[in-house]
Amino acid sequence: MKAVILAGGTGSRLMPLTSYINKHMLPVGRHPMIQYGIETLRKAGIQDILIITNRQSAGMFIQYFGSGAELSVSLVYRIQEGAGGIADALQLARPFIAEGEKFLVLLGDNLFEEDLTPYIEEYQQQKGGAMVLLKEVDDPHRYGIPVFHPDGAIKHIEEKPEKPESNLSVTGLYMYSSDVFQRIENISPSSRGELEITDLNNLYAAAGLLTYRTLSGWWMDAGTFESLKEASARYWDIEY
Ligand code: G1P
Repeated sequence: MKAVILAGGTGSRLMPLTSYINKHMLPVGRHPMIQYGIETLRKAGIQDILIITNRQSAGMFIQYFGSGAELSVSLVYRIQEGAGGIADALQLARPFIAEGEKFLVLLGDNLFEEDLTPYIEEYQQQKGGAMVLLKEVDDPHRYGIPVFHPDGAIKHIEEKPEKPESNLSVTGLYMYSSDVFQRIENISPSSRGELEITDLNNLYAAAGLLTYRTLSGWWMDAGTFESLKEASARYWDIEY
């Protein structure tokens, strides 16, 4: 299986640090934040990884990670021009994925404790559609939060709801098949002018094609100062 790591964006919640460095290259413990995601993918048997970033940051990623050989992965890079959003960036993965191929998308600021192999294997066996991973959180207004049908299936996802229906967050790990690229063509920019990953996932949910699993280990989105500090503290304590 291949993976796409999305590592662009402005990192506005980590200003002023992100005025000179891409969020995903900020130190977490002994390494740049994105390295943990790369390691998580490698441990799950994924070696072919496309990193999508922006023009300002690409040089730093290439200088630091190069071909990926030191981490035993194969890295290629693509550049997102402008700030079109997560689903817009994902479109750049189209030439990287064959017709009918399944793949994984990871937001580069997401950190996972557990081995993701079982979830990937389950998605490989799933007939079609998409799969997301959920995790209980204390601050659901920060994330995409699913609303469930009585039978437990996801009805739709609310992005950063004021009144969250649950404390289960959609994490930044999504599994799709190549049909995702046609679906992206059917979403429109949100009020902030971006193609939103949640709108894309809601197309699957509306068609009854969005499955999920709930993580047992800890999960963090290190995109705020508070979570960056917590992530760093955790990883400083782990021999890595
Ligand atoms: C994005 C998604 C959100 C998800 C989160 C996980 O939010 O839009 O649904 O819960 O990633 O990290 P962002 O961090 O870009 O605000």
